[in-house]
Amino acid sequence: MIKLLFFAGSCRVQSLNKTLAKFAEKSIDHDLVETTFINLAAYDIPLYNGDNEEAYGVPNDASTLKRIFDAHDGLFIASPEYNGSYSAVLKNTIDWLFRRPEDNLIPFKNKVVALASASPFAAGGLRGLVPLRMLMNNMDCHTVPSQFCLGHADKAFDDDGQLTDEHQLAMLNQTLDQWVETTIALNAQ
Ligand SMILES: Cc1cc2nc3c(=O)[nH]c(=O)nc-3n(C[C@H](O)[C@H](O)[C@H](O)COP(=O)(O)O)c2cc1C
Repeated sequence: MIKLLFFAGSCRVQSLNKTLAKFAEKSIDHDLVETTFINLAAYDIPLYNGDNEEAYGVPNDASTLKRIFDAHDGLFIASPEYNGSYSAVLKNTIDWLFRRPEDNLIPFKNKVVALASASPFAAGGLRGLVPLRMLMNNMDCHTVPSQFCLGHADKAFDDDGQLTDEHQLAMLNQTLDQWVETTIALNAQ
């Protein structure tokens, strides 16, 4: 059975992108897949500094995260848009996970990636997904063509964290279906 990892590029407790990633995880048909949700705020990963890496090595939590990524076939990333791009937290995490290739863990290569974003503004963080798609392709991931951008996200979820609008639900499911089908197809032996 394929394994899918869900996370957001935000550490905020009330993060809209975390809410979206959690909702996406719940929306998946669990007969076909195993899922994991992770909260990047739970991992103590400092800003990357090559001098510190040389002196102290890769932080334990970065190694833990790397093993988690390695154990999954697909990644669902909900990233905030910060000034037209993805978040620094997300990039810093990816940079750390790319270190120490000699450990033979594979956090990114050939993973199938679904991109999503949530924003209180109308475009839903769409601009940030353009560079994020490029970044994940540079990491040798397969990004699926469909993506989900949730505008006015501060009003989109009910108290239980459920998306309520039928059109938005249909758009999200389209991305999730394409992602799951592609991940299953690429991992079929
Ligand atoms: C530094 C910064 C830059 C931002 N730039 C954008 C932006 O370019 N486009 C946008 O839609 N929202 C922007 N926002 C608003 C975020 O979309 C909003 O804070 C969102 O809730 C962040 O995601 P989160 O709720 O998952 O933490 C920005 C917020 C911050 C703090």
